[in-house]
Amino acid sequence: MSDDLLQRVRMHGAVPAHIAIIMDGNGRWAKGRSLPRPLGHHAGMSAVRQVVEGCLEAKVEVLTLFAFSQENWQRPALEIQALMSLLEEYIAREAEHLRERGVRVRILGELDRLAKTARGAVERVMERTAGGTELALNLCISYSSRAEIARAARRLAEEVAAGRLDPAEIDEEAVARRLLTAPWPDPDLLIRTSGEMRISNFLLWQLAYAELYVTPVLWPDFSRRHLFEAILEFQRRDRRFGRVTA
Ligand code: FPP
Repeated sequence: MSDDLLQRVRMHGAVPAHIAIIMDGNGRWAKGRSLPRPLGHHAGMSAVRQVVEGCLEAKVEVLTLFAFSQENWQRPALEIQALMSLLEEYIAREAEHLRERGVRVRILGELDRLAKTARGAVERVMERTAGGTELALNLCISYSSRAEIARAARRLAEEVAAGRLDPAEIDEEAVARRLLTAPWPDPDLLIRTSGEMRISNFLLWQLAYAELYVTPVLWPDFSRRHLFEAILEFQRRDRRFGRVTA
């Protein structure tokens, strides 16, 4: 069934070069099964695997996943600890497979706030997969889009103050080059699971022209099949970028 969908994706037209996902609903998935919330996050890890595999098969070039926001630091300490251990577990289990499949992992966010072991793990996976050319996998951890934009503004101000940049040269390109996503094109498709209609401080600048796809499916239930359905829906959309259809 999902292989039929993959065939349709391949035949249908342009595949989004960059997909961004707000992985939501782990807590509700656990609650529905009377399980503690961390088990929902654990189940969410399998969905990450499926989506990475699906992107490789569909030849998506960049996948950006919102794994932990700066606002998430306000969650109960036990849940934060569980999420950090999960990140370490994911890296320990998957790093070699990701390397073999040609996936290049980058972590976007304020890594200074991570515990030493989690930080070591993310640095190792970035190093180990640095040669990957099939799929760029960006994990947003301790990420806030407003903080990212403020950081870009601070950099521009510093360069102007140091005399290296003329304020007249500050255009959209100049801002984009100082964001954490600088090497990649903007997302073409944003997927949010669990039915919430929010952007939640995720890639506010970069999502300017992304197609939005919200599904009621809770993240731990999201599979390759759901990914291909989202891509097929994207392929049916008429993207005009503010212009009229030719
Ligand atoms: C939102 O669900 C999800 C998160 C805050 C964490 C996302 C993390 C994973 C999918 C774990 C694995 C990821 C990696 C990359 C190792 P929620 O807890 O806000 O759900 P709720 O809205 O139903 O409470």
